[in-house]
Amino acid sequence: MTAKTVPVATFDLVIFGGTGDLALRKLLPGLFRRYADGQIPEDSRIIGVARDSLSDDDYRARVSQALAPVVESEPGLQPRLAPFLLRLGYHALDATRDEGWQAFADELQAQGERIRVFYLSTSPGLFVDLCTRLKAHGLNGGQSRVVIEKPIGKDSGSAARINDAVGSVFSEGQTFRIDHYLGKETVQNLMALRFANILFEPLWNSNYIDHVQITVAETVGLEKRAGYYDTSGALRDMVQNHLLQLLCMVAMESPAAMEADAVRDEKLKVLRSLRPIDAGDASQLTVRGQYRAGASNGGAVPGYLDELSRLEPGRTESRTETFVALKAEVDNWRWAGVPFYLRTGKRLAERVSEIVIAFRPVPHSIFEHGAGPVVANKLVLRLQPDEGVKLWLMIKDPGPGGLRLQHVPLDMSFAEAFGVHQPEAYERLLMDVVRGNPTLFMRRDEVEAAWKWIDPILAAWETLRESPKPYTAGSWGPGAAVALIERDGRTWHEEAG
Ligand code: BG6
Repeated sequence: MTAKTVPVATFDLVIFGGTGDLALRKLLPGLFRRYADGQIPEDSRIIGVARDSLSDDDYRARVSQALAPVVESEPGLQPRLAPFLLRLGYHALDATRDEGWQAFADELQAQGERIRVFYLSTSPGLFVDLCTRLKAHGLNGGQSRVVIEKPIGKDSGSAARINDAVGSVFSEGQTFRIDHYLGKETVQNLMALRFANILFEPLWNSNYIDHVQITVAETVGLEKRAGYYDTSGALRDMVQNHLLQLLCMVAMESPAAMEADAVRDEKLKVLRSLRPIDAGDASQLTVRGQYRAGASNGGAVPGYLDELSRLEPGRTESRTETFVALKAEVDNWRWAGVPFYLRTGKRLAERVSEIVIAFRPVPHSIFEHGAGPVVANKLVLRLQPDEGVKLWLMIKDPGPGGLRLQHVPLDMSFAEAFGVHQPEAYERLLMDVVRGNPTLFMRRDEVEAAWKWIDPILAAWETLRESPKPYTAGSWGPGAAVALIERDGRTWHEEAG
């Protein structure tokens, strides 16, 4: 079975930071797949921009190398590679100097009015210069869109400054703030599950839901990102954006329509209902961790500080957290008293991202002791790997010999059920930008509301000055994260159920 694709209108997409990691690892492979699938019209252009002086052919060679693993894993895409590479061009530009910008603008404008997407895959420090130059050369017109990537700031103040700067050139309607978690298939499925079925809504509240868990566990470590990651840490890198967006998707009320502002209004209400965590309760409600040497993906791996000192010789100390667990509460009628336990970390035991809706137990068991315990239902949405949904139910153990109960999942793995390639988050999101559909992008007020909740936690950690708790690479994080949930008489979900 093949997924249906509707071609988008012809466009020019400019990737600032076109030789960078994100462009080569995510954006260009995503665009290639969409092209191979027939969704990108032949006369569209993709233009890489960076400071290095490269010819179009040099750039195509780099991109071709970056696409080799995609073609290797799906040989059927091979014939589409050469025509895709012909869609690519390159411009050497420096965001801070005027040189070359006029020629670049002339080349874009030579095609007349068409959709233009400017993807700022650079450090946020360059956003102001880039936007100002785009405006100076008349490239911010009606069909232009700008895409910005996180980090959108380090706190509310810096986020507001970035938003002001971009907003002085592009209108809110032209600004697409990407959170790639919103492009993941299961996250959108959560909307379908909640709002296209009658089954869940009556149960989706504190009367029937005991608690919610959101886990985003990674096995990778610092990678090559010391400069960024060590000044960020897991709370800013993952919780402020990805985990809070997932929380919003679980907790929001039904929007009146699947329209961008209707959806984003509902998410904003959730963010504004989060109970603040400050120095008074941060030690109770949050856990920070940092990995030590251990084993991951079958091999020995160094600790965070060792990795850091290899990447930045002389650095031997850091209090940056590579793991966070926290207990959040949404103070509104629907969710009062239902904790949302969030955890994320690097170098954990497995790469797994999932949302667990843990229902309350039945009020009374009619079954005899020998039937075994009646375990509460759970709905588990797996974002990665093996996207799918499992609804854990109690059933009778099949066969003769008395009535014994079993806790088993009704299991829907998307790959098995539909047999189609699940698009990568960036594939969908890039096409949404071209279509001008901002539903799965963050509005300015959402980003700022998320920071407003994060700011006091960062301030509390600053005040408390506690070092992050060590955990062994390849484990599930510091023991304190287990204690955080066990104190409430609950446990982190494990696949064995
Ligand atoms: C990014 C973070 O936003 O998300 C990275 O900056 C993290 O630190 C990545 O590794 C995880 O994304 P995914 O899609 O691999 O879960």
